[in-house]
Amino acid sequence: ETVDWDPEDTGKSGYDHFMLKEIHEQPRALRQCLQGRVDEMGGRVTLDVDVDPERVQFVACGTSYHAALYGAELFRQAGVPAQAFLASEYATSPPPVDDALVIGVTQSGETADTLSALREARSRGVRTLACTNTVGSTAARECDEVLYIRSGPEIGVAATKTFAAQQTALNALALSVAQERRRAGDVRDSLSALRELPGDVQAVLDESNAEALAEEFVGAPSYFFIGRGVHFPVALEGALKLKEISYGHAEGFASGELKHGPLALVTDETPVFAVVTGDGPLATKTIGNVKEVESRDAPVVAVTDGRSKVERYADHVLEIPEAPPRTAAVLANVQLQLVAYHVADRLGRPIDKPRNLAKSVTVE
Ligand code: G6P
Repeated sequence: ETVDWDPEDTGKSGYDHFMLKEIHEQPRALRQCLQGRVDEMGGRVTLDVDVDPERVQFVACGTSYHAALYGAELFRQAGVPAQAFLASEYATSPPPVDDALVIGVTQSGETADTLSALREARSRGVRTLACTNTVGSTAARECDEVLYIRSGPEIGVAATKTFAAQQTALNALALSVAQERRRAGDVRDSLSALRELPGDVQAVLDESNAEALAEEFVGAPSYFFIGRGVHFPVALEGALKLKEISYGHAEGFASGELKHGPLALVTDETPVFAVVTGDGPLATKTIGNVKEVESRDAPVVAVTDGRSKVERYADHVLEIPEAPPRTAAVLANVQLQLVAYHVADRLGRPIDKPRNLAKSVTVE
């Protein structure tokens, strides 16, 4: 007796798609990313990069741009002025660099737009750092410093585990800067949250109800995602993932911006995914935005740890473990990856190789 098999399937370890396999590899990817870098007992982050920047400019494309927005927020929280730029715009219309450190976030290390932005920065004499997954890549070779995200190879065109590892590595980088600036309290709390992150991601994967939710919403005319602060890039990434692999229309918005235009698109047929964690002022404000969509009869899905009681205004909940905002942003994103995957799977899309897209785009 023989069994038909495709050599590609063995690489998928029994998963239907590389994307799903890579989503499930995230706990391991994050452990690898943190290995030897976080000393919780000693309360220190140790990275083999030498930076204590006055200001930071991030350049990146696609999913990596969302990681860059997230990283910029964390640097600002550490007291360092930081901004994220789309690499293609930075290369076209470069901002003043002053004494900035320019950080290129690029999984492949080969994205032409990001390389041009980094070269533009170098030509003006500033230091550059590549945050990449790929040892020996062009970005790694050309930059002054390299921070590897160590997530292992990613085959699916849609970035999943590399985004989580970028978030995690940038988290550690921002903490190392906070440490230099003697913001010890910030560092200690965040270190323990980082140590718990891989296990918390596993808990999300084990308990997620994203598949059932995806069934409910497959075929919706549009999907919207909202978040504030560190959750704003998560909203953008949730929408990007869904459009890349399901071909559905999806948009992410800063929660506060919804009422300034996009609200006109919200109907009883457009699900709105709201990322709301903790019970502080940010959560309260986002709940205000959730009420705005709820009163337009939109189905609301709260991605939440339950502390803010946002579920009172939501039709569905995607639950995540309690965690500080910066790591909650990683956990919330895992739920949204699963929603995108299952919507696309229900539609029978070629998930690992979506039409018109490439894993790495080497033309400007
Ligand atoms: C392509 C991929 C995206 C990716 C972007 C940036 O467009 O399809 O998934 O986010 O490139 O890639 P990079 O390797 O620079 O992170």
